[in-house]
Amino acid sequence: MSETFNGIEFKGFSKLSFMQRLNKLLESESITQEDYEFLKSGGLKSVQLGEKFIENTIGYFQLPIGVATQFCIDDKEFFIPMAVEETSIIAAASKTAKWIKESGSITTEVFGTEIIGQIQIAKVKNLEKLTTLLQARKKEYIQLVNKEVVPNLVLRGGGVSDITWRVIDRGDGFQMVVIHVMMNPCDAMGANLINQVCEYLKNPLQEQSGEMITMCILSNLVDTKITQAKVQIKVDEELGLKIQEASLFAELDPYRAATNNKGVLNGIDPIMIATGNDWRAVEAGIHAYACREGRYSSITRWRYQDGTLEGVFRAPLIVGTVGGVTQLHPMAKMSLRMMRVQSASDLSRVAAAVGLVQNLGALKALTTVGIIEGHMKLHIKNLTLGAGATEAEIPLLETKLEQFLNVKKRITLSHAIEMLQEIRTSQRM
Ligand code: HMG
Repeated sequence: MSETFNGIEFKGFSKLSFMQRLNKLLESESITQEDYEFLKSGGLKSVQLGEKFIENTIGYFQLPIGVATQFCIDDKEFFIPMAVEETSIIAAASKTAKWIKESGSITTEVFGTEIIGQIQIAKVKNLEKLTTLLQARKKEYIQLVNKEVVPNLVLRGGGVSDITWRVIDRGDGFQMVVIHVMMNPCDAMGANLINQVCEYLKNPLQEQSGEMITMCILSNLVDTKITQAKVQIKVDEELGLKIQEASLFAELDPYRAATNNKGVLNGIDPIMIATGNDWRAVEAGIHAYACREGRYSSITRWRYQDGTLEGVFRAPLIVGTVGGVTQLHPMAKMSLRMMRVQSASDLSRVAAAVGLVQNLGALKALTTVGIIEGHMKLHIKNLTLGAGATEAEIPLLETKLEQFLNVKKRITLSHAIEMLQEIRTSQRM
């Protein structure tokens, strides 16, 4: 498999300087001239946009944004923009994507289209009357909200498609009814739309049923729209079985599952941030789905058989490519353009694929050389800054820390501070 993108060579991308990286992205038409100038200038300067996004703005919190390379998802090449503060995530994603490109494949799928809005009746007075009403009028309610609240969604092929309900025994002698409004939000994440739909239904429902509606809000546990990513890769039996064991550990032990899933989200959250998506909603949905069998478990599963390792990620990954700040923040617009995603489903497939690849990268490191070697090698730069080294002192301190890590296989900020003091003392002599 080639290491070119639009005819431009990308091997060794990680060894390029900042300007060389921008030039490569421009040459391969992954970014526009406008993006290039924006990135070169250091991004957003005026606080004007921030003032429109949130309240009481006092500035920006600037995370670095990088690109993971070598991704081939569903036979299509991708650059993955990732906004993240943690060392080694982008390196591990790129390295693992390269490995898969050489010896395997990544495929993705989305099952279902509907998100869920919830309407709560905390203490139902007359369950039979309510359910009879819902059964008789649900078509009418659907038509009403499609006409009055989301007519544009309907024109795009989406809109409200169903209304269902669940009865929950409260354990205090009362019953709670939760009405679920199912809606296809097309390429929007849909939170604002579904909330408006549910609130619109509140009055007619209350008036016609005589029940008291307590609250209306979307659910982030969208088990009606699931994104799947699958990796298949040729590996030797020893490595395949080790990764399978690591997977079983996370499937069976919630303490390990939490860390495994954090590793998966290392791949997903940075894309959510880079594209202006609501990563808290995505996180909440994934963690809730990870508990669907009554115990917190791994969101990925790896199995080895006859020379092939197969991994699967399956979870709700509800994102938008329109709405929110996705088309307002210049960095989010650039990130979406860079990935050439055509729809919200495409974006969720890419994010799922990167999450799964990230997981494989971490599991490979954990079951072979350990996480310290690669992660700490890249973390050394942070330690030099944390120790207070100046630009002039950083190269020498970096070399000393690398040598220490190679010998001792461990390294902390205290080591960096001690070594910096030694360097300064020896330079004064
Ligand atoms: P290496 O073999 O030393 O890398 O691995 P290399 O220098 O030989 O380069 C090979 C390729 O790796 C490069 O190809 C890049 O694609 C990538 P090239 O571009 O040269 O053609 N690469 C880099 N990309 C960007 N910047 C870099 C860079 N270096 C390499 N500086 C590596 C080094 C860190 C990749 C490897 O040791 C690794 O994958 N380690 C795993 C690290 C990891 O998973 N980090 C995530 C954070 S830890 C965590 O929070 C999650 C965890 O708890 C989850 C869990 O428990 O499941 C572990």
